[in-house]
Amino acid sequence: MTRVLEARNIVRDYHVGGGLFSPPRTVHAVKGVSFSVDKGRTLAIVGESGCGKSTLARIVTMIDAPTAGELFIDGQKVDVAKDGLTPEMRRKVQIVFQNPYGSLNPRQKIGDVLGEPLLINTGVGAEERRERAMTMLTKVGLQPEHYHRYPHMFSGGQRQRIAIARALMLNPSLLVLDEPVSALDLSVQAQVLNLLADLQDEFQLTYVFISHDLSVVRYIADEVMVMYYGEAVEYGTRDEVFANPRHDYTKTLFAATPRADVASIKARLAKKKAA
Ligand SMILES: Nc1ncnc2c1ncn2[C@@H]1O[C@H](COP(=O)(O)OP(=O)(O)O)[C@@H](O)[C@H]1O
Ligand SMILES: [Mg+2]
Repeated sequence: MTRVLEARNIVRDYHVGGGLFSPPRTVHAVKGVSFSVDKGRTLAIVGESGCGKSTLARIVTMIDAPTAGELFIDGQKVDVAKDGLTPEMRRKVQIVFQNPYGSLNPRQKIGDVLGEPLLINTGVGAEERRERAMTMLTKVGLQPEHYHRYPHMFSGGQRQRIAIARALMLNPSLLVLDEPVSALDLSVQAQVLNLLADLQDEFQLTYVFISHDLSVVRYIADEVMVMYYGEAVEYGTRDEVFANPRHDYTKTLFAATPRADVASIKARLAKKKAA
């Protein structure tokens, strides 16, 4: 089994305030968290807002450097702080954000959105970029003719498919998905989750899937890490964590969520609301 990602004792502090009316203070966003993901697997990171999930996402995708700790991608040590990142290392890890509208340039045609990573990172010519973008559109359940359209011409679910397609253009080994379906309607959530599962099989992708929604996590995760105020309070296989939550926080979190088929309950509520 190949270990695609390993994070050891990751710490991230933010220094905030220090203005006229706010004394300087330190936010301990992530307080020494370790985890790893093997090829083709999905690690879900769960926890309520503010517990440090997106901070971890930025560190794993090398957008941000940890205050302390070590990160290995495909066995290679990452040194973000010293800018020791090769383009090859960057290519390997891609991210999909919660809000596909915010992350797509409204003036850019979808074809250019998908071609851009190739243009910036490779020597691939215009014709091949176009072909690869069209192929990728069909892989994510869109059509080649969507190539010429703009982001506003798509639904939320379609836009998230575009964001996923863009993330896959450079053939990454690891995809970090930060609340990728949280902004979508329930039925659309299910479609995008199914797409992610299919793509994982087809491209042998490894996922770090961030969510606050346990029904989604239960569906997609192989391993689960529960975060609470910057710490990992629970970490194990999905079945272990769901069957036998050990930490008080996890018990409360699980108790607050009806265990029986959450998705169908939510779907019924949504229908009621719409009626
Ligand atoms: N750039 C930043 N500057 C200062 N504080 C931050 C910054 N980013 C995140 N934080 C703080 O770090 C903590 C964790 O935030 P975040 O990682 O966004 O949590 P989550 O994604 O789980 O909601 C929060 O207290 C948040 O306010
Ligand atoms: Mg977040």
